[in-house]
Amino acid sequence: MSDPLLSATDLTKTFGGITAVDGASLTVDEGDIVGLIGPNGAGKSTTFDLLTGFLDPDAGTVHFDGEDVTDLPPEERASRGMVRTFQMSRELTGMKVRENVRLGLQDHPGETALASLLRTGAAADAETAAGDRAEALLKRLDLWELRDEYAGNLSGGQRKLLELARAFVTDPDLLLLDEPMAGVNPSLTDDLLEFIRELRGEGTTFLIVEHDIDVIMSISDEIVGMHNGDVLTTGTPAEVRQDEALLEAYLGGAV
Ligand SMILES: Nc1ncnc2c1ncn2[C@@H]1O[C@H](COP(=O)(O)OP(=O)(O)O)[C@@H](O)[C@H]1O
Ligand SMILES: [Mg+2]
Repeated sequence: MSDPLLSATDLTKTFGGITAVDGASLTVDEGDIVGLIGPNGAGKSTTFDLLTGFLDPDAGTVHFDGEDVTDLPPEERASRGMVRTFQMSRELTGMKVRENVRLGLQDHPGETALASLLRTGAAADAETAAGDRAEALLKRLDLWELRDEYAGNLSGGQRKLLELARAFVTDPDLLLLDEPMAGVNPSLTDDLLEFIRELRGEGTTFLIVEHDIDVIMSISDEIVGMHNGDVLTTGTPAEVRQDEALLEAYLGGAV
């Protein structure tokens, strides 16, 4: 078996007296869609912050693609192919939709077709490729008609989609999505799931936090269940459905 693409070991993070993440360990295998679940306050978003470098852990390590990235800043992890979205969207409201998506490319020049084109000096081709990818994404996410709209004028769900487009356009190796469906029009949810499956088919690996248990069970190869800052269970969706401790944590937690 090859090494996991992402591996976190004994991550811990406290805020004042609150231990948000308490010795959590998890792995994500290349090519998988892994669902990270747990009740509100379980530590999922903080774990994302630790994995992606937006927070420094008090203890523990993060390995990505065979290297220790624990001390690397978020932009360095992104440039190595680890890209995330936030539970609360962080699009730039004073910029147009298409400018926001372009910004994704500037932020995260990952190991993409685009990057290799740039290295060969075919900058014009790279520009076209990037433009094509951005256009295809905006169309796919129903944002093309809104491309010249300011992001600040979009609905909450549309902003979420814009943030996804900005992450997808970088063609990352690993995408960490924090509640990507929250606030998105239900008519788009199925399409978004299908799109995630397609991207996985093209080689992208996913770690996804999703509140809707049926949605996350339907799309994931592996489930990691968190409770009180620690990983309580891991397994296939079918295995986790049998896990009484996790179900109890869900039912007993402040969902
Ligand atoms: N910046 C922070 N300051 C203080 N407490 C925090 C901070 N971020 C998260 N927490 C606390 O850490 C715990 C885990 O939060 P979080 O990681 O957001 O959980 P989840 O995403 O699973 O709902 C919660 O008790 C939350 O209130
Ligand atoms: Mg959260």
